[in-house]
Amino acid sequence: MSRILVIDDERSVRTAFVEVLGAEGHQVLGAESAESALQTLAAEPMDLVITDICLPGMNGLEALEQIRRLEPKLPVIVMTGFGTMQTAIEATKRGAFDYHLKPLDPAAMMLTIERALEAARLMRRQVEIGPEDLVAPAVDAIIGRSGAMQQVYKTIGRVAPTDAAVLIRGESGTGKELVARAVYQYSSRSQRPLSVINCAAIPETLLESELFGYERGAFTGAAGRRVGKLEQADEGTVFLDEIGDIPPAVQAKILRVLQDKSFERLGGNQTIRVNVRVLAATNRDLSKAIAEGGFREDLYHRLNVVTIWVPPLRERREDIPLLVAYFLSRFSAELEIDKPLLAEEAWEPLRDYDWPGNVRELEHCIHRALIFSRGHPIQAADLKALLGIDKPSPAQTPGFDLQQLVPCVRDFLEHARSTRPFDELLETVERLLLAEALGRSAGNQSQAARLLGMPRPTLHAKLRKHGLQSDRPRSDERHPMSDS
Ligand SMILES: Nc1ncnc2c1ncn2[C@@H]1O[C@H](COP(=O)(O)OP(=O)(O)OP(=O)(O)O)[C@@H](O)[C@H]1O
Ligand SMILES: [Mg+2]
Repeated sequence: MSRILVIDDERSVRTAFVEVLGAEGHQVLGAESAESALQTLAAEPMDLVITDICLPGMNGLEALEQIRRLEPKLPVIVMTGFGTMQTAIEATKRGAFDYHLKPLDPAAMMLTIERALEAARLMRRQVEIGPEDLVAPAVDAIIGRSGAMQQVYKTIGRVAPTDAAVLIRGESGTGKELVARAVYQYSSRSQRPLSVINCAAIPETLLESELFGYERGAFTGAAGRRVGKLEQADEGTVFLDEIGDIPPAVQAKILRVLQDKSFERLGGNQTIRVNVRVLAATNRDLSKAIAEGGFREDLYHRLNVVTIWVPPLRERREDIPLLVAYFLSRFSAELEIDKPLLAEEAWEPLRDYDWPGNVRELEHCIHRALIFSRGHPIQAADLKALLGIDKPSPAQTPGFDLQQLVPCVRDFLEHARSTRPFDELLETVERLLLAEALGRSAGNQSQAARLLGMPRPTLHAKLRKHGLQSDRPRSDERHPMSDS
């Protein structure tokens, strides 16, 4: 739940926000003037402010400035009628998160609200480094006492207070984003905003305008000026996540920002100067990308003033028990499970598994095991099934039960952004459906294929993918794992 303050002199607008955002589980307060909003803000912490520009008394732009002085990290979204669009652009230049034209497009507005709340979360939610005591799941934590992690902590401590660019490298799921947030929080810019840009998630064509902004008419559809993320983050920190994925044109521009702290908006000639600290992360092998011509070597050297290598989990197995304890306590609080239990033999697969998805995979595994266990001790077999070890048959697998679909989906909707990718949910659903169909048809694959409405070869391929089929090729119709 987030706390959102809506400033608009029209009651109907405030009511609409209260209703829509309230239904999403947020707490929404309304203010009919900027003055009363500032009073509310002084008394109560908020996660987001949405304000109209044209207000009686102090206008939205002035309100924005006061809010920025009071709480530079609080995201503010401005709304405006077409006539005052120029002011709205001005507002983003002065640090508003984004602006929307009235009449509002509800879907687009919701998206912006979600992104603003996520940005606020990343900025504000404290990352504790290597805590000894794990019973405080209210903060995020970088867990691990291994030598490799100690090295990471030392480097964070050394570079955080400087303004140097930092490149964070490591396989997927090792905790690069956590490290970036820790660097930010321990930096001298921690009171200023952090702007996170996931370069891989934004289509190539949009990335450039997202970062640098554009002038009216810069391309078809550029109806007015737009201020980019770099300009908005002036005096603050920019985290370029997945920097290995950016196209060459954008690489050249980022290089210039690092070298002379300047750039032009798309379609503009005015040189804009910014004072931003750049943090970047990638799971790509940049040396290889450079050799193949996909990444500029000069940019690499500029970014690489300090590199923090985050080790893969398999190289610091001694941290697994700590991480498991941390995730158990964190998720059991969330799932309202009193005492999460792990059978003694369940440690074996956790210790021995290779964790190609690193800490993220471990986190998901514990989360799901807890959901499926519903308070019973988590068994080795549950974990092996979740991790796809031993290629278990549907019948033996405690995890395969259509009953799990509802909690799975609910869990996804509640935590999707932070913990599990959409594709992974689809995989889980697919696995459950395959297992159910096989169960109903007593292992008869033709029948299962008919039930699922898919050709047999497709079913075969899917069963193989999920490890639900024995390796022995079969021409018959028996249960894929039966021995008879
Ligand atoms: N050392 C750690 N202690 C506790 N949680 C961790 C640790 N490392 C990673 N996590 C958790 O694992 C998940 C993945 O971490 P994160 O997003 O930082 O990975 P990443 O390296 O950025 O991965 P990718 O390259 O896929 O973006 C997050 O939920 C994070 O909280
Ligand atoms: Mg990441």
